[in-house]
Amino acid sequence: MDTVKNYIEENKQRFLDELFDLIRIPSISSEDSHKDDMYKTAEHLKAGILAAGADKANVYDTAGHPVMYAEKIINPDLPTVLVYGHYDVQPVDPLELWDSKPFEPEVRDGKIYARGADDDKGQLFMHVKAFEYMIKTDQLPCNVKFMIEGEEEIGSPNLKQFCIDNKEMLKSDVILVSDTGMIAKDIPSITAGLRGLAYMEVEVTGPNRDLHSGLYGGAVANPINILCEMINSLTDENNHVTIPEFYGDVIEVSDEERAEMAKAPFCLEAYKKALDISEVHGEAGYTTSEHLGIRPSLDVNGIWGGYTGEGAKTVIPSKAYAKISMRLVPNQNSDKISELFAKHFEAIAPKCVKVKVTALHGGEGYVSPTDTPEYQAAHNAYATTFGKAPIPVRSGGSIPIIAEFEQILGVKSILMGFGLESDAIHAPNENYPLFNFYKGIETIPYFFKNYVELKRK
Ligand code: BES
Ligand code: MN
Ligand code: MN
Repeated sequence: MDTVKNYIEENKQRFLDELFDLIRIPSISSEDSHKDDMYKTAEHLKAGILAAGADKANVYDTAGHPVMYAEKIINPDLPTVLVYGHYDVQPVDPLELWDSKPFEPEVRDGKIYARGADDDKGQLFMHVKAFEYMIKTDQLPCNVKFMIEGEEEIGSPNLKQFCIDNKEMLKSDVILVSDTGMIAKDIPSITAGLRGLAYMEVEVTGPNRDLHSGLYGGAVANPINILCEMINSLTDENNHVTIPEFYGDVIEVSDEERAEMAKAPFCLEAYKKALDISEVHGEAGYTTSEHLGIRPSLDVNGIWGGYTGEGAKTVIPSKAYAKISMRLVPNQNSDKISELFAKHFEAIAPKCVKVKVTALHGGEGYVSPTDTPEYQAAHNAYATTFGKAPIPVRSGGSIPIIAEFEQILGVKSILMGFGLESDAIHAPNENYPLFNFYKGIETIPYFFKNYVELKRK
């Protein structure tokens, strides 16, 4: 493995060129107009993984976007690592806020700027190149499988069925994922937890048609005003969520564990500065890291209705809408929370409006144990390449399929993410530092080596 740095040095331009080719295909999973791009990306990955040394690779159709599956089996008696990632990306709007075109990647100030540069094309591609290195230098210590999906950003609606249908093919000892972040460039960390998600859409209807706001204003309920009042009541003055039973299944983390978590470096001043906010906000009694890692939250993701065009139009709209998501912690169930939300939202609606609540998607949180061979293998890998021990961190983000992998495949995941908070994933000017890209490629082979050695014991 001591040759990995040289291998990267000799091939670094080619690695970057190849990643750029992957990024150039605009694989936005939520937009129908990109349907063909999803196939193109899956096929492109298949070709790349075969070139890197896989025995076989296939693009599998699903009810939605295809899954690329590949494998290299060197000896059925050896452990098998299943690498999971997603080739789909988020939409790019607002386009005018990008400093360069989202699907024309370029390097500026040592960072790759493009949609998918980090989430997740840049991160999954590190695995393809680490695999290539291990094969080309004859150091692959175990079997490897790749499952790269195209629907993560829309809630992986078809991957569960794919796993059920292909349980035998996907058989593995551990699932390795790079789709999260680390504390800082020089502070490696391992994601030890993810939050779950319940995502709702609400529709509030007032009068049966838009009304003149002079002829009716003050006499008929305005659904936008009502929606705002309803949303406002979903959290109280302590920023607790007011939905009855919302916290019912939340596991209170012990003081000892909280003290342990608080050891992870976090600079509130730098956090505020990076976001240009003068104060943070959150549930009373908890720190910012705790708000993200161990507490559930509720946020409006979008709200619309009425007139938003140029100039003024005097109108009381017939309808108002909002998309509301709740981030959940382990042991909260997303279906149950969706039902509690719907019941509550209907109950608080005043008689002057009708409401309709729809659950869009959801998924469960995940806690990754730190006393497993895979955790130890990851820990030692980071310690080798960064020269310091990684810190376990519970992330606020979600990858709902990870909990389902455990249910369906019976296999735990290890989350070795290399992204930074400044990568602006899902936002304009998404980027991924070259340092993180190459450091990921360097670190992954050590995970494989350590894992196989630890499993042998
Ligand atoms: N890679 C992210 C999740 C992530 C990022 C977790 C950084 C931890 C740190 C993933 O692609 C994502 O965006 N997930 C969605 C969930 C999905 C159901 C749309 C999310 O968290 O909003
Ligand atoms: Mn992702
Ligand atoms: Mn994402």
